[in-house]
Amino acid sequence: MIFKLTQEQEAVQKLVREFVEKEVAPGVAERDEKEDFAPTYELLMKMGKLGLLGLPYPKEYGGAGGDQIAYVLAGLEINKVDASLGCSYSVAISLSAWPIFHYGNEAQRQKYSVPMFKGEKLGAFALTEPNAGSDSGASECTAVLEGDHYILNGTKIFCTNAGFADIYVVFAMTDPSKGVKGISAFIVEKDTPGFNFMKQERKMGIRATVQREIVMENVKVPKENLLGKEGDGFKIAMTTLDGGRIGIAAQGAGIAFGAYEYARKYAMQRVQFGKPIAAQQAIAFKLADMITKAEASLLLSLEAAYLKDSGQKYGMHAAMAKMFATDSAAQNASEAVQILGGHGFLRDHPVERMMRDAKITQIYEGTNEIQKVVISGHILR
Ligand code: CAA
Repeated sequence: MIFKLTQEQEAVQKLVREFVEKEVAPGVAERDEKEDFAPTYELLMKMGKLGLLGLPYPKEYGGAGGDQIAYVLAGLEINKVDASLGCSYSVAISLSAWPIFHYGNEAQRQKYSVPMFKGEKLGAFALTEPNAGSDSGASECTAVLEGDHYILNGTKIFCTNAGFADIYVVFAMTDPSKGVKGISAFIVEKDTPGFNFMKQERKMGIRATVQREIVMENVKVPKENLLGKEGDGFKIAMTTLDGGRIGIAAQGAGIAFGAYEYARKYAMQRVQFGKPIAAQQAIAFKLADMITKAEASLLLSLEAAYLKDSGQKYGMHAAMAKMFATDSAAQNASEAVQILGGHGFLRDHPVERMMRDAKITQIYEGTNEIQKVVISGHILR
């Protein structure tokens, strides 16, 4: 693995760090408090103008020509400060833009990928259902071909960016008799009649992003919006999640670093028993553990990104990075609250938000228990 970043990768990190300092950090607490996605959406649109919504995609399709390592670095910087924005960003880049670009034909790429990469259109990914969470193959949504359209019915839940996104990657059964091999993937446009968005979910954390249920009632999707072939849906979902987990690993690393950095600064300044609490070994050792976990999270994320960039298999490494980094995020955020003591429990400091935000990263894009299913599946073949 190459440890030295290229000039382009360093430039992306600098660009995102400056954007986060100037545009994201100032309103982060207020956006969380208001549980309002609209300002987060505005930030995403600004990121689009900087080329960040097409970051790891080719220039000839309107992308920025970057790679997965640059994408990890961008995710790291965003999630140090705002995991809500980080969630929506990761869904846009990994879960919606990637399957359309990777599995789409040229017409689909021109129609959907180009505006997504240019930041003109936002994407979403609709896989999870009330009875198909970890068991994503148990889909009950249906898609029936009638003439030149598929008719989609059923319910999707926890769909990030729903209601704001323009383009949705939706999974539904075209042939229930074939089990997971009967699932297909479709590109659905926001305003398609019968594609109904329910209320915004109220959550423990990542409150400034949006998740909604989508109820599909006879949604007419043109035949040309089938992604890949009929029956490819499960493979498309699984490979998409392999890459998505790199984004969530970067999110975990970001939160782990953010919590560490805030707690370190606080511990250097907060005086008790006549000296900064950082001078107490109990606190110093916590900080030593926290930086180690944050660094290891980043390295695992970069390794998975490097494997993907260099055309090697990365599913297992993405799962390891996702699991380790998000567990580290949860541990570091909790320890940061502990270091700040009673102050850490107040909303005056970002660490209580980080603790709430970190929890979901252990759950979404495959619970960390599912990551162990994936990892053990790879090593025990
Ligand atoms: N790549 C390619 N093919 C894959 C694959 C992968 N990563 N994983 C499985 N497959 C293939 C298998 O090879 C198999 O095909 P064959 O029969 O031809 O060999 C087929 O798919 C079925 O595989 P499994 O029997 O392993 O499938 P399973 O039903 O046991 O499920 C699972 C495996 C890993 C548990 C999977 O269901 C899973 O990943 N679940 C978690 C779902 C998840 O991550 N959901 C997150 C939702 S998105 C989200 O959170 C978004 C957000 O808002 C942030």
